[in-house]
Amino acid sequence: MSMSGSLAAGAAPGKVILFGEHSVVYGQPAIAAALGHGLGATVESCDDGPWLRIPRWGSEGLEVRPSVDGKGDAMCSAFALALRMTDLSLDAGVRVTVDGQLPLGVGLGSSAAFAVALLRGLADQQGQQLSHQRLSEGAEAIERIFHGNPSGLDHTVVITGQCLHFNRGETPRFREVQLGAELPIVIAWTPRAGTTREAVAQLKARRDQCPVEYDELFGAMGRLADAGAAALEAGDLQRIGTLFDLNHGYLNACGVSSPANEKMVHLARSAGALGAKLTGAGRGGASIALAPDDPNRVVEVLREAGFDALFTTVR
Ligand code: MEV
Repeated sequence: MSMSGSLAAGAAPGKVILFGEHSVVYGQPAIAAALGHGLGATVESCDDGPWLRIPRWGSEGLEVRPSVDGKGDAMCSAFALALRMTDLSLDAGVRVTVDGQLPLGVGLGSSAAFAVALLRGLADQQGQQLSHQRLSEGAEAIERIFHGNPSGLDHTVVITGQCLHFNRGETPRFREVQLGAELPIVIAWTPRAGTTREAVAQLKARRDQCPVEYDELFGAMGRLADAGAAALEAGDLQRIGTLFDLNHGYLNACGVSSPANEKMVHLARSAGALGAKLTGAGRGGASIALAPDDPNRVVEVLREAGFDALFTTVR
């Protein structure tokens, strides 16, 4: 393969759901913020493209071609869609590498960040700048390939880079939540059992058995998300921590927690965090802890227990 030397790039942050995962699928509000960690896509010209490489995907890394007919695995279909959305043909001479510091596949918005970074990188290659609407349509379509019927929260936060209050509905509604104080957040993660799509389907099956009870629970989770938005705006860390704990209890009642999530939140609280919860789809994956006093101690305790962990500030 020879390179012509031209280089284009796109980037996107990950996201963290602070309140309201899963209940958001049932029309309740959720709050999510962009992370300092993200993914980048670099696009080079090549003779035998198109290629997509994700060096950190799985243990071996991943290298795929776009699927020509919509067949093939999700990544091949997503790549084909991104090429089409940016007016590139399925034999375009491009080689895309997606990489970054965001942990992949643990509920921190890596699929949305992948979609947005890929679309931005390919658009840059074409000398285009995608409008918010076009980017949103493309990212949503790619998220659908990976997750079935996503709420739209992830890719909207990833595109705007803001903290957002989100209501799904016929027309999704977003408003920016202006944080009254920076949030010192420790994130710990572990591999997930299954996909977001499966976690959402599993909760739907539970809800179908007990619709009245679960709809009441989702309503309580929605009120908690609104209370969380107000506490975030007031910068009331103590209250945000308590609301994290409450939200985690509700998610446990939804059946989406796991022994690993329970261990992470327990360890973080014992190490001095003001509150902790799982974030994203659950069944493993990431948990977050609000740790203003000694975040490094919380990271250390989580790492000693064998989890990956990092300290970040959400602004
Ligand atoms: C996944 O990050 C969040 C869920 O609420 C699904 C969604 O919002 O699409 C579990």
